[in-house]
Amino acid sequence: MNFADSEVVASILKGEYTLTNDINEANLILVNTCSIRDKAEQRIHKRLKELEALKKRNRHLQVGLLGCMAERMKEELFQTEPVLDFIAGPDAYRSLPQLISDSSHGTTSFNVLLSKEETYEDIMPVRYDANGVSAFVSIMRGCNNFCSYCVVPYTRGRERSRSPKTILGEIEDLLKSNYKEVTLLGQNVNSYLWKEGGEEVTFAKLMTMVAETSPELRVRFATSHPKDLSDELIETIAKHDNICKTIHLPVQSGSDEMLRKMHRVYDRAGYLERVKKIRETIPDCSITTDIIVGFCGETLENHQDTLSIMREVGYDYAYMFKYSEREGTLASKQMKDDIPDEEKTRRLEEVIALQGELSLESNKRDIGKTFKVLIEGTSKRSDDHLFGRNSQNKVVIFPKGNHKVGEYVDVEVKECTAATLIAIRN
Ligand code: 5AD
Ligand code: SF4
Repeated sequence: MNFADSEVVASILKGEYTLTNDINEANLILVNTCSIRDKAEQRIHKRLKELEALKKRNRHLQVGLLGCMAERMKEELFQTEPVLDFIAGPDAYRSLPQLISDSSHGTTSFNVLLSKEETYEDIMPVRYDANGVSAFVSIMRGCNNFCSYCVVPYTRGRERSRSPKTILGEIEDLLKSNYKEVTLLGQNVNSYLWKEGGEEVTFAKLMTMVAETSPELRVRFATSHPKDLSDELIETIAKHDNICKTIHLPVQSGSDEMLRKMHRVYDRAGYLERVKKIRETIPDCSITTDIIVGFCGETLENHQDTLSIMREVGYDYAYMFKYSEREGTLASKQMKDDIPDEEKTRRLEEVIALQGELSLESNKRDIGKTFKVLIEGTSKRSDDHLFGRNSQNKVVIFPKGNHKVGEYVDVEVKECTAATLIAIRN
């Protein structure tokens, strides 16, 4: 999400600024931030301290802080981070030229107003750090779910969807520039809904519209909340060859007690029923997840439930986190963050080790199979090899031959590690 937001910000400022790769040359630095865990915020504080030295050397340098940390901490940030000239929350990027101008004479300025409507839908993002092959397209903003541990609904505000017309317009432009893959982004894409003139466009309908723009375009999406992953969407994925066969379905915990305390609105059985539906409808679909260990009151038995659901689903990949208490959330107000950090670390190591085994098993099952891979670049380990992804979003490495970035190629998997498939061209 933040990457897509930075591309919108680059677009808003492109008339007045040009991008540079040399930080010493910059006279404007914008730090886009995430508040989801304390660790992310601590990294930003460290970065801001580093920028202080740069500012001492360049008195024309202006530094601004964008995103969720701005929204969460507001003007208070000017006290702790004197390097900052201005701050802008996630819905305030249109006011950046004004904020920059207001703060150009040594005064600070800020805008952290949240909006019920802002989707930046008319702004064509500047693809400044792109591989020219795949791009993110933001289709909605905000979240209404209020999971008890999560700060996102407070920092990014309520859900709002972007019109299909502007989404498709952006995708047509990407196709003209030879992009081959789009990932439709939202905190909870399943609740995408656009109503106009008595007609409704659901997320499944939007996916169909995007998939039908070109058979050459691959379509991905993130993220789905298990509580509203509809049959309609699963069937839409199965029906279109160019919709990638992978679903990111954050489970968070395998314990009903934890899921209830997290306000996830599904239970273990309900989640597994969705997985069953996916497996029946799209047999070659990969399933990935997010997991939080050490949430308030998590017992060893609850933790075992998480390990067992991981085995039962056989995730292809997982993002795994220690619970990090966030001020203002329901959990921070009503529950005790009572699992000691060392114990959270121990549990995290356990889930990471298990996921390593599951990823390796999943990759081993692919040996001997042929996949269509979209080439993204040269392999980091060897100039003679290219890398790309298959429909299941697994990274595949194979000998270069005459192939180029942006092409599709059929390759046969010969070997693997837990992270990569190693293949030959067919
Ligand atoms: N602590 C740890 N992980 C969190 N996530 C969200 N909030 C927290 C928190 N307070 C994780 C969830 C979510 C992912 C994007 O970040 O797993 O799915
Ligand atoms: Fe946070 Fe839950 Fe919304 Fe995801 S669905 S952004 S975890 S509140």
